[in-house]
Amino acid sequence: LAAGPLMGKHVLVTSGPTHEPIDPVRYIANRSSGAQGTAVAAALRDLGARVTFVTGPASVPPPQGVQVVRVDTAREMLAAVEAALPADAAVMAAAVADWRVAEESHSKIKKVAGAAAPSLRFAENPDILKSVAQSPDRRPRLVVGFAAETDDVLAHAQAKLARKGCDWIVANDVSPGTGIMGGAENAITLISATGAEPWPRLPKDEVARRLALRIAGALA
Ligand code: C5P
Repeated sequence: LAAGPLMGKHVLVTSGPTHEPIDPVRYIANRSSGAQGTAVAAALRDLGARVTFVTGPASVPPPQGVQVVRVDTAREMLAAVEAALPADAAVMAAAVADWRVAEESHSKIKKVAGAAAPSLRFAENPDILKSVAQSPDRRPRLVVGFAAETDDVLAHAQAKLARKGCDWIVANDVSPGTGIMGGAENAITLISATGAEPWPRLPKDEVARRLALRIAGALA
């Protein structure tokens, strides 16, 4: 373990997308690369934290020197998160699918000549951030959520802070054209109960480093 301001602290980080199965060969996913969550986990590790990194199927490899727990679905992610508690802080950077397919087919859905195209029904996934932030007994001291939005970024993120019961929201604008989702840079606004702080556009590693320092400050 590295020496540093987070030595002796356990921080849980979620990252990446989730995959929600339709049948054994098909799934619903989203465009999250896992890059920002991975960078946050590495930065926390560099400050001396013990990091549990719960990741969906990301397109970047997990960092070295953290405990990696791989999951596919939102429900698996919730179980892994609950198993990882207690933690001093939780940073929930995963792009968890809001919905899963209500009736997963356990055999491949076949195309039948002349038959109508299938339709999917969706069911709501558990809200992992909300359940961690609102768990009375096992709540980490600091719970940080992410908000990827394409419009009204600030208003949506502020509403999310209240709705989810978390301490901070890292808000980012992932509109097409920003190049943020899947890109190397991020422009975030850090939102807490006391205000909204816009950060300059920075490499994701630098956003992570600054966020890790903030977290260390809050846990000190
Ligand atoms: O509601 P929305 O998905 O926009 O919230 C984003 C934040 O909530 C992220 O921090 C994400 O990791 C978390 N989240 C979650 N479980 C869900 C949906 C979102 O933990 N089912």
